[in-house]
Amino acid sequence: MTASRQIHLVRRPQGVPVAEDFAVVGVDTPDAGEGQVQVQNLLMSVDPYMRPRLTADQPLDAAMLGGGIGRVVQSRNDRFKEGDLVRHGAGMQELFVSDGKGLQTLNPDPALSLSVYMHALGGTGITAYGGLLETGALKDGEQVFVSTAGGAVGSVVAQIAKIKGCYVVGSTGTDDKAAWLKDEVGLDAVINYKSQPLSAALKAATPKGIDVYFENVGGAHLDAALARMNLRGRIAVCGMISTYNGGGEGVRNLSNMIYSRIRMEGFVASDFPHLQVQFVEDMTGWLKAGRVKYQETILDGFERAPEGLIGLFSGLNNGKMLIRVAD
Ligand SMILES: NC(=O)c1ccc[n+]([C@@H]2O[C@H](COP(=O)([O-])OP(=O)(O)OC[C@H]3O[C@@H](n4cnc5c(N)ncnc54)[C@H](OP(=O)(O)O)[C@@H]3O)[C@@H](O)[C@H]2O)c1
Repeated sequence: MTASRQIHLVRRPQGVPVAEDFAVVGVDTPDAGEGQVQVQNLLMSVDPYMRPRLTADQPLDAAMLGGGIGRVVQSRNDRFKEGDLVRHGAGMQELFVSDGKGLQTLNPDPALSLSVYMHALGGTGITAYGGLLETGALKDGEQVFVSTAGGAVGSVVAQIAKIKGCYVVGSTGTDDKAAWLKDEVGLDAVINYKSQPLSAALKAATPKGIDVYFENVGGAHLDAALARMNLRGRIAVCGMISTYNGGGEGVRNLSNMIYSRIRMEGFVASDFPHLQVQFVEDMTGWLKAGRVKYQETILDGFERAPEGLIGLFSGLNNGKMLIRVAD
């Protein structure tokens, strides 16, 4: 047995989650039994999808669901040796025991940071890649709009679209994210939706309309994009973060779908296993060549996971929000 900690949901949030909705709970983690491994969590992900789960699906008084990267510290399973790095969905636990199912051994490229396997080369990266290229059916040189462009998914979407020779407009909520997108990433236009009237700014930024809108926000963003969609435009619906805490603005421009023959389609990251090999090859190359840049906000300390999750809803993160549990 080893003393460790878990993050529990202790009550269901009303609106935006607050610290009191969560608790850091001490537990005793058993040693690895026959066929098992014990894993030390190194990096944990906090993600917007967790918020809707807090309303119903996430059990109370149990370790929060979530993904991360860990190191095998005890192995009694032939597939793993001590020291192996594994990507997992074992939740918010400092230490855990597993029979190995759902653990993916990582052999990180030495030229890349381990953390990129939690974003650009992980779940948010394949979401961006599959959502833009397959669901959005992006064609080279098209007109693209991406919301939450300074975040984990959005920043990768925006850069893939630039690699494909597109005209790319991004929206974000802070001036420093906007400056990074314009100056470092080279977007054609960036809108700070908190300081500019979104519809007017989007109209001015998209003189040739929008062929693909990569939707991460919903509400007013969707409304503004619908008004600018070109004939046979595609809206790839990845997320609607403005609605996750309840409320959010209604959408009035849906009828634009009719005459513009717009296709709007939702998707989830796991829809793209057939793209995985090509995705890893492309993304590894783009990262190494500096063609895909990234930002990370890494909070140090296991107990800061609730703060990280809550911070996603105020835009605390530049790029991917991660929690560093151990080195
Ligand atoms: N379909 C899938 O499988 C899948 C997988 C991963 C993610 N997603 C979705 O993709 C979107 C982005 O996820 P991510 O992991 O990359 O998170 P992220 O963009 O790195 O972080 C969330 C960002 O959302 C913005 N935001 C928060 N509340 C907002 C609001 N009310 N209106 C507008 N923007 C708001 C904030 O940025 P600003 O400072 O710019 O406001 C915040 O930094 C989310 O909608 C998520 O649910 C879907």
